[in-house]
Amino acid sequence: MEDNYLERFYELFEQMPRQGPGDGDSARRLLDALSVSGPGPLRHIADMGCGSGAGTLWLARHTDAEIDALDNYRPFLQRLEREARAQGLAQRITTHAADMAAPPFPPEHFDLIWSEGAAYLIGFTQALALWRPLLHSGAHLVVTEMCWFTDTPSPEARAFWAEGYPEMATPAQRIAQAKAAGYKVLRRFRLPPRAFNRFHRDLRQRLEILRARHGDHQVYRECEQEIALFRDNRGAFGYFCLLLQKTDR
Ligand SMILES: C[S@@+](CC[C@H](N)C(=O)[O-])C[C@H]1O[C@@H](n2cnc3c(N)ncnc32)[C@H](O)[C@@H]1O
Repeated sequence: MEDNYLERFYELFEQMPRQGPGDGDSARRLLDALSVSGPGPLRHIADMGCGSGAGTLWLARHTDAEIDALDNYRPFLQRLEREARAQGLAQRITTHAADMAAPPFPPEHFDLIWSEGAAYLIGFTQALALWRPLLHSGAHLVVTEMCWFTDTPSPEARAFWAEGYPEMATPAQRIAQAKAAGYKVLRRFRLPPRAFNRFHRDLRQRLEILRARHGDHQVYRECEQEIALFRDNRGAFGYFCLLLQKTDR
């Protein structure tokens, strides 16, 4: 790993509007599906691996819930706190600098756990098992997860993800794992490519600024490789969005 790897990594992502692909339209679809199935209003929501809180703020604007936003990188949370104050939402958002694998919340507390592009960092199945006790009976979990959308990826895509995320699975595998972990699958769809395009556009802008400041770095090359890989392997992989409901076992 090149010198200053983490420093360059966080510097790149700290100023991004979001730290991973996601979009309001997909969040809306998930929330609408949830309200059809849901037992009453959302009062308590957790956003696991919230980053600088794009999803948290969206949830605060579109629900009346109190939101616990958890991430293990404090500067992201500080940015979320500033933005929440600026948008008049700070009253309903509490940040937690903590590990998603050891969330500091009481059992059966949440109506909804929300986690975009983060569960994989502690392992998808591990996240589903660890977070289930925090949901009350019939409560929901929304999770987005990088998946293979083809059984025959290009050698380049296969090699890249063998390095970056060797456990990457297909939607069918993730659905089976969710059911085995004690959830019903209420809704599932692929995050539209436009969410990736927007994220990659923002990332390219940041890369340009930081390259001009620091020159080349391994972090920048890796990000550019991922952007190119997505462009050259349309439809081969992407985020899969799942709306799950805790079942009684
Ligand atoms: C890909 S980003 C997604 C951020 C945000 N959900 C979004 O969509 O913009 C993953 C986030 O998980 C956080 N993270 C990584 N490992 C973590 C852990 N063990 N506990 C808590 N947060 C973690 C990172 O700091 C980062 O903010």
